[in-house]
Amino acid sequence: MKPVFSRITGTGSFLPPRRLSNHDMATMLAERGLETSDEWIVERTGIRFRHFAADGVNASDLALPACQAALAAAGRQAEDVDLIIVATSTPDMVFPSTATLLQNKLGVHGCAAFDVQAVCSGFVYALTVADAMIKTGGASCALVVGAEVFSRILDFNDRTTCVLFGDGAGAVVLEASAEPGILASDLHADGRHSDILCTPGTVAGGQVVGSPLLRMDGQAVFKLAVGVLEQAARNVLERAGRPPESLHWLVPHQANIRIMMATAKKLKLAPDRLVATVAEHGNTSAASVPLALDVAVRDGRIRRGDSVMLEGVGGGFTWGAVLLDF
Ligand code: UT7
Repeated sequence: MKPVFSRITGTGSFLPPRRLSNHDMATMLAERGLETSDEWIVERTGIRFRHFAADGVNASDLALPACQAALAAAGRQAEDVDLIIVATSTPDMVFPSTATLLQNKLGVHGCAAFDVQAVCSGFVYALTVADAMIKTGGASCALVVGAEVFSRILDFNDRTTCVLFGDGAGAVVLEASAEPGILASDLHADGRHSDILCTPGTVAGGQVVGSPLLRMDGQAVFKLAVGVLEQAARNVLERAGRPPESLHWLVPHQANIRIMMATAKKLKLAPDRLVATVAEHGNTSAASVPLALDVAVRDGRIRRGDSVMLEGVGGGFTWGAVLLDF
């Protein structure tokens, strides 16, 4: 019988070596006449560290080791891959896509490769697209990647945002399978809220027009996020015909521990079922979900057959969830 599901067969992640503590950020901001503290950042967000890529290191460079780790975990070679989707809002170039640059760095040529732009929901969007392509026979072995260098678009004169974000990459190998797999997805966007989290600048006439730096109305994002994450989770559970108590793991977008805990609580999930890695890398946008997934797979928490909920939320405004049996 033909495979009718897609299933994750390997995970990988990568954080660039330069690691800054909250104390390092406080020192950096003090030089600019701004005040912040480890206490404030930990209490409001749960973040303790973030990793910044070195100058000249781009999203595709972070994606490469994450993909190599995912391929090794899946027992696959780059030559086996027939689809590469990279979720990123900080691409190497305006064009071509980061996915094509990554394909070349992987040393393979010819397979489909493109980027998905859904900011912090990017990975769940990309995974849903890859799942659909596999289920309809358009691909059989996909690399689905989230890779970001948000340090490049941070305003270090804005303490309300620059302490929150970091750089990193995460990847999964998604393969056609006779066994599930991805069970259900739920994706949404509401462009009315595009201005609450954005980098509004563009390039025109050889110049950057408007601000190329991230800005966020944190409270507005916070309020929307808590509501939509619960709804998306309930939607995919209903679609899959599974009750919330059947869930083994919640792997949400890693932006703020308070948002993640609120979501887990609304789903009546025990706190130890929540995978939270935000303390180590801050908000890495589209990279955060596959980063957290890889950590929990490698440390032995997430095992084959476990029921896992992935969730993204962020700029656009976008949000979504994917329910899968690992
Ligand atoms: O990736 C997409 C998803 N993004 C998110 O999920 C982010 C959602 N938003 C949040 O996580 C939170 O809203 C923040 C972490 C951004 C902010 O936390 P908050 O509890 O909403 O704080 P606030 O914005 O209400 O600010 C409280 C106070 C303010 O001072 P006053 O007005 O009370 O005197 C801020 O000026 O904290 C001040 N503040 C800071 N203090 C020290 C803001 N940033 C800092 C800072 N250090 N870095």
